[in-house]
Amino acid sequence: MFAVPQLRSLVTDIADEMRARTDRGRIADYIPELARVDPGFFGMAVALPDGTVVTAGDAETPFSIQSISKVFTLTLALGIAGDRLWKRVGREPSGTAFNSIVQLESEKGVPRNPFINAGAIAVTDVILAGHKPSVALGEILRFMRFLSDDQTVTIDKAVAESEQRTGFRNMALANYMKSFGVIENPVDYTLGVYFHHCAIAMSCRQLALAGRFLAHSGRNPDTGHSVISSERARRINAIMLTCGHYDGSGDFAYRVGLPGKSGVGGGILAIVPGQASIAVWSPGLDDAGNSHLGRIALEAFAKRSGVSIFGA
Ligand code: DON
Repeated sequence: MFAVPQLRSLVTDIADEMRARTDRGRIADYIPELARVDPGFFGMAVALPDGTVVTAGDAETPFSIQSISKVFTLTLALGIAGDRLWKRVGREPSGTAFNSIVQLESEKGVPRNPFINAGAIAVTDVILAGHKPSVALGEILRFMRFLSDDQTVTIDKAVAESEQRTGFRNMALANYMKSFGVIENPVDYTLGVYFHHCAIAMSCRQLALAGRFLAHSGRNPDTGHSVISSERARRINAIMLTCGHYDGSGDFAYRVGLPGKSGVGGGILAIVPGQASIAVWSPGLDDAGNSHLGRIALEAFAKRSGVSIFGA
């Protein structure tokens, strides 16, 4: 278990080191609104079982969680569909970019996993399930507020609209899946909910708090609330480890050794089973679309604290 004073100095050291670095990766500019974010931000937060959150850097500044939202929509969709979900989406690593279209044709419109864009759009369609888009979106937002115990979590409308105007690839993916019956609702409705849940804005502190149930067998250890079963939490962690960083998932497992999920806003949520939920944020991305300094910070954290699911 982490001791708070040591953890505080470790997280502060890492944040100071990251802020001093000049190799920051490249900001995602295919969503025009994201291109406006200052690449100099770095934040880190570690949430412990008793609700203590150890933070450093820009850990209180909200950022666009983007694909990290897919962990939470997967959790909701499994609650709705149970194992039937796996008929609509697979759970194998894709070995391709997050927005790749190439596998969908050979695999008859069934996406490889719930974290690539096609898979996450199919998962959103399960949550939509005939409801109005505003109802489904309200459900997702309420879930994020409940998990982070923070009613101020909100959606950045400018980011959602920016992606809605320019998300032609996602439109292609969704229409292609619709042709196979994998998408059941009107494509515009499903994409509208998808773009908006990707545009949820959260700080590292809020995100680390929201991830606690994955670190503690499906329960919030602080409040005692049971969110999902321990078996489901274990399985979501497994998919985060194998698919959470797209074509960089193997490298993340090799370097960090923790289940993690990245987003093109530059955030990463990482889980230390039984111990902590960690959020890092640095907007510059590597070639696979994952936070460059975020990954380096987590690698340093895992190495220096000796935590990894594969042993110290
Ligand atoms: O659909 C998209 O392209 C974005 N809303 C989310 C992509 C994303 O975050 C990929 N993560 N690294």
